[in-house]
Amino acid sequence: MIILANSEATNGIGVSAELLQQKHNVLDALVEGISIVERDPNVRSAGYGGWPNMIGEMEFDAAVMDGTTLEIGAVGALQGTLSATKTAYQVMKRLPHVMLTGAGATRFAKECGYQDDELLMPDSKRVWRNKIDKVVAADQLNDFPNIPLAPLSNIITDPERVRDTTVFMGMGHDNHIAACTSTSGWAWKYPGRLGDSPIPGAGFYADSRFGAAACTHTGEMTMRAGTSRAIVLAMQLGHNLEQSVDLAVAELANLKCGFLGGVVIHAIDKHQNHLVVNFRCDETIRYWYWDESLPKPVQRIATKV
Ligand code: GLY
Repeated sequence: MIILANSEATNGIGVSAELLQQKHNVLDALVEGISIVERDPNVRSAGYGGWPNMIGEMEFDAAVMDGTTLEIGAVGALQGTLSATKTAYQVMKRLPHVMLTGAGATRFAKECGYQDDELLMPDSKRVWRNKIDKVVAADQLNDFPNIPLAPLSNIITDPERVRDTTVFMGMGHDNHIAACTSTSGWAWKYPGRLGDSPIPGAGFYADSRFGAAACTHTGEMTMRAGTSRAIVLAMQLGHNLEQSVDLAVAELANLKCGFLGGVVIHAIDKHQNHLVVNFRCDETIRYWYWDESLPKPVQRIATKV
């Protein structure tokens, strides 16, 4: 049994580990853990603690993948609830679809009984409002948000705000592998923007026969390079974990235009090896790891590549 999660998982990974020890289904265990992260105000990249879009609305992306059946559920630009991953799980369980977005995702979440009154944390609202007051021209402030938003798109590169995510992946007692992701996306993103977190093959992929991968940070790159699928496919073609991640890193490095930034890749293989690499993020990147030999999850530092 193994769980790999990014640095944001502090308050959730222990719960996932306990459930795996009790022999719960691996995806159920991961979803319980990530759902705690979604309600943790200290996590500034997913759920309640996350940042709003350009017009001050919270929009969540999330996904789940069962690596044994290759079933997926995903939601994009979900509003009205913090339970983004649980909603994604219900898409997988109850609908003949893989992904719902926008109003449809919000409607479905409500149908599932997931609804929260408070989505935007007062501190996030304050920081967003200060930003808007600074970047919107004085003669447009009265009309905001009914002004052209595209010219403001450069504020999504705000260096003080993370472009992060939370990702969980693991293998259960029965060798089944699964992955899940959740994010509020980039701070001040254009409304409706989806990142890589709900996109199968980009932000996550899991196949119990080989392994799993999931990414944080610049989704605009992993969507172009199909990073998570590339890693699991490389394993299928006979590459080991390190070679498979190296290959995906080379594909990211090959991107020469468009929005470029850092990416963190988290990956496990079916032999319970794990690897987390930091591709071009300036800061030290940490992650959480647990396996059945450890009394509790431990935090480690990602390898810089
Ligand atoms: N990786 C998170 C995002 O791009 O939204």
